[in-house]
Amino acid sequence: MVSTVAWSDEHIPDQHGRTVVVTGGNGGIGAEAAQVLADKGADLVLAVRDVAKGEKVAAALPGPVRVLPLDLADLSSVRAFAARFADEVGQAHVLVNNAGVMAVPQATTKDGFELHLGTNFLGPFALTGLLLPHLTERVVTLSSVVHRRGHIDLDDLNWERRRYARWGAYAQSKLADLLFARELQRRLAASGSPLLSLAAHPGVASTELTRHTGSRMRDAMLSLTSRVTGHSAAMGALPLLYAACSPDVAPGAYYGPTGPGEVRGYPGIAGSSTAAQDKAMAKQLWTRAEELTGVRYP
Ligand SMILES: NC(=O)c1ccc[n+]([C@@H]2O[C@H](COP(=O)([O-])OP(=O)(O)OC[C@H]3O[C@@H](n4cnc5c(N)ncnc54)[C@H](OP(=O)(O)O)[C@@H]3O)[C@@H](O)[C@H]2O)c1
Repeated sequence: MVSTVAWSDEHIPDQHGRTVVVTGGNGGIGAEAAQVLADKGADLVLAVRDVAKGEKVAAALPGPVRVLPLDLADLSSVRAFAARFADEVGQAHVLVNNAGVMAVPQATTKDGFELHLGTNFLGPFALTGLLLPHLTERVVTLSSVVHRRGHIDLDDLNWERRRYARWGAYAQSKLADLLFARELQRRLAASGSPLLSLAAHPGVASTELTRHTGSRMRDAMLSLTSRVTGHSAAMGALPLLYAACSPDVAPGAYYGPTGPGEVRGYPGIAGSSTAAQDKAMAKQLWTRAEELTGVRYP
């Protein structure tokens, strides 16, 4: 159960001896989480596509931090990251699937997937599968309140036959993340694995997520809206930190801010749409993700 006390980073137990991989750990919520985890003594692996930016963040953190290149929009980079991780790091307690993009103009990844789907869901799906033999405790995947607007079109996951809608594409990818986190928990349990799969969302947090729309004006409006309605990146990182560190998590649970509309506030259990609880869809989506990425697990 989540405590009714406002849970913040001061409740995080000592993290010495734990290794945590944070994708997108070089900015926004990922960098905030990395700072807190490092302060608490965790060894960190920042999995980033901009290594120079990652090194800059790492230099300011206490303790051992490794920065490894990872572009989630390129499955060959995901495979290369997993191979390097196995060679150079070996094992981690927690993988945090944090990196993502939002409201981008229509574009595809190196492998031809719609950019939101590829970066936010298929890349993390493949990464999780490839790292699974090297993980010992938890996988945390970031979703969003926007998942509620999402609809999974299994016949057109990549927006090739539908008229492209940037928010629809983002929402589909974040719904896919939540379905994935829950299906992963069911599959881990069925296979007798002690690993936990959890999901989290930051509410609305002031980060650089608003920089991708392709229009400066639109980016600025989005950024202003998130600053006015939302909370800081540090507050936005709390639900993922809760999922990654709290001893009280429930298998397959979804955490987010507990204020009105789950936009801001301290973390607790988050609500989800009916579509996010559709086990049959989660199964079908898993099969499609295996087919599209070529990564099959657990
Ligand atoms: N902020 C919010 O209000 C909000 C709300 C709901 C959900 N979320 C979720 O929270 C997560 C973190 O977002 P944020 O707000 O912290 O945004 P952010 O400040 O833009 O940070 C996103 C991170 O993801 C990385 N990234 C993007 N594409 C990548 C790729 N192809 N490969 C590897 N890394 C990539 C970025 O790296 P670069 O620096 O190289 O671009 C950056 O480090 C996302 O999953 C987002 O959907 C955020």
